[in-house]
Amino acid sequence: MPPDDQPHPTRVAIVGTGNVGATFAYSLLLSRLSSEIVLIDANRARAEGEAMDLNHAIPFAHPTRIWAGDYEDCAGAALTVVAAGTAQRPGETRLDMILRNGEIWKQIIPQIVQHNPGGILLIATNPVDALTYAALKLSGLPTGRVIGSGTVLDTARFRYLLSQHFQVDARSVHAFIIGEHGDSEVPVWSLANIAGMELEDFCRSQGLALTAADRQNIYEQTRDAAYRIIERKGATYYAVAAGLIAITAALLRDQNTVFSVSTLIEDYYGIQDVCLSLPAILNSSGIRNVLRLDLSADEQEKLKKSAAILQSTLRKLNL
Ligand SMILES: NC(=O)c1ccc[n+]([C@@H]2O[C@H](COP(=O)([O-])OP(=O)(O)OC[C@H]3O[C@@H](n4cnc5c(N)ncnc54)[C@H](O)[C@@H]3O)[C@@H](O)[C@H]2O)c1
Repeated sequence: MPPDDQPHPTRVAIVGTGNVGATFAYSLLLSRLSSEIVLIDANRARAEGEAMDLNHAIPFAHPTRIWAGDYEDCAGAALTVVAAGTAQRPGETRLDMILRNGEIWKQIIPQIVQHNPGGILLIATNPVDALTYAALKLSGLPTGRVIGSGTVLDTARFRYLLSQHFQVDARSVHAFIIGEHGDSEVPVWSLANIAGMELEDFCRSQGLALTAADRQNIYEQTRDAAYRIIERKGATYYAVAAGLIAITAALLRDQNTVFSVSTLIEDYYGIQDVCLSLPAILNSSGIRNVLRLDLSADEQEKLKKSAAILQSTLRKLNL
């Protein structure tokens, strides 16, 4: 660490340097958001190999200190991204992973916090909502400093599919997936818009249609995307890494950006004491606040069901 009168370099620690962690590390190097990247993995050789490969990209990127480290290297990190664990196997639901990854959590989280009580934790490992809740309990950190990537990826998939349907840039489609990052996730059709126009108004103005079958098809493609990709290439990592980078930028640059991240929800349509995704404002403090959407009756019911499914998962974790 530099002496206190020197500017501190921005350190990001990555725990778990498999597909997701390594892709995030590569994107982070190219993004120029951090000046130090420490890679931590139970498979030390893997972390060392990734550090070597990434270091060789520095002449094409920007000066960054990258090394394979241990938990003590999390000290002083502004952000620790956790992508350690076992990936979703073909045909397996995300919830099936809970017991395997829950045990790993009990080793990892206390070690990160012991060395870095002041940083922000960003959780990517699945089932991400349950593991965000577990990280909150195991770390003792304030709620706003434990963030799950949640439905950031599902929201991106939803916006992409809507953009294809409407033939507009995905960045101009404003729509969210909330609830579980998984099979019970909820599309918020009632608030989706393009240029502030509800989707039905946009359709009328453009001579397009959005039938109930179209909606169901777009929702199913969003919800099941991970299964379809895993069947084909074994894992998903580019889009989630891009989402993690967007969150990292919001945190490190104090941007106040809205993302559908997973966080502890209390007292929202009767939902209590569970982590799930709602749009939230992110800045250098972590989650500044969660936006409580005005949902339709149908969306409220679906969100309550999603919360109930997550609560039953949490009971299996036995925290
Ligand atoms: N949140 C999302 O949107 C999203 C998207 C894609 C994948 N994921 C999840 O991210 C996780 C990682 O996926 P992946 O494809 O990178 O898996 P992977 O198997 O390629 O990598 C996991 C890494 O974790 C390491 N690891 C295992 N136990 C560890 C421990 N106790 N301490 C430190 N490191 C440990 C492994 O050695 C491995 O390098 C999975 O849970 C996957 O489901 C989440």
